[in-house]
Amino acid sequence: MRKPLIAGNWKMNLLRDSSVALIHQLLDKSKASDKVEVAVCPPSVYLHDVGAALRGSHIALGAQNMYHTDEGAYTGEVSGKMLKDIGCRYVILGHSERRQLMGETDTQVNQKVHAALKVGLVPIVCVGETLDQREAGQTTTVVRTQCEGSLAGLTSEQAAGIVLAYEPVWAIGTGKTASPAQAEEVHADIRALLTKMFGADTAQKVRIQYGGSVKADNAKELLSQPNIDGALVGGASLKADSFLPIIDAAG
Ligand code: PGA
Repeated sequence: MRKPLIAGNWKMNLLRDSSVALIHQLLDKSKASDKVEVAVCPPSVYLHDVGAALRGSHIALGAQNMYHTDEGAYTGEVSGKMLKDIGCRYVILGHSERRQLMGETDTQVNQKVHAALKVGLVPIVCVGETLDQREAGQTTTVVRTQCEGSLAGLTSEQAAGIVLAYEPVWAIGTGKTASPAQAEEVHADIRALLTKMFGADTAQKVRIQYGGSVKADNAKELLSQPNIDGALVGGASLKADSFLPIIDAAG
């Protein structure tokens, strides 16, 4: 059975004190469970402080991006090796905001996925269509192309350990969520593609999160779909009161 992963993507929000305070609230009001895994992904400058606050707890640390080489003359970049060194377990790769605002391509995401796996990080690889693409009937093609490009060259063993996040761009930060049926349809199609790429055994192991305006009141129904294995949560992960019920919904 796949253990759902609820990950908070803080994006470029919170400052050091509010980040650490949020971790204390989450640790006060939640406990380790074998039914759900939890992670938070703060901005890179706060990974150290947040990591210190959650050390030894049931909440894992994740980063929001990384560069694809270990070290060198890449001003402003952070490597996977550094993220691993500071205690990260996860790294979000190819988030739609990075694809849209920073022009990240599937090829770049693919390089990062390989680099993350090489240093022992678990990539959370994001895919998803825009509203225009959905309305033009291109959802399946767009999502399949992103998956194929981002996961190219992985062995089945490597693929089994990654996390995918299906995040329809039109649902991110908009308050519009894909209906559970709409989400499940895409998740099932991603799993079918994974079966073709890596075999059925591997495809059954890959966790596929849903993301896009996940909230306390829609989490349960989304998470009860057979191919939805957790959530990547933006806005609602910034407060304990809105993040904790989503964790509860998965457990
Ligand atoms: P949202 O963001 O929950 O605020 O829609 C999700 C994401 O971008 O990962």
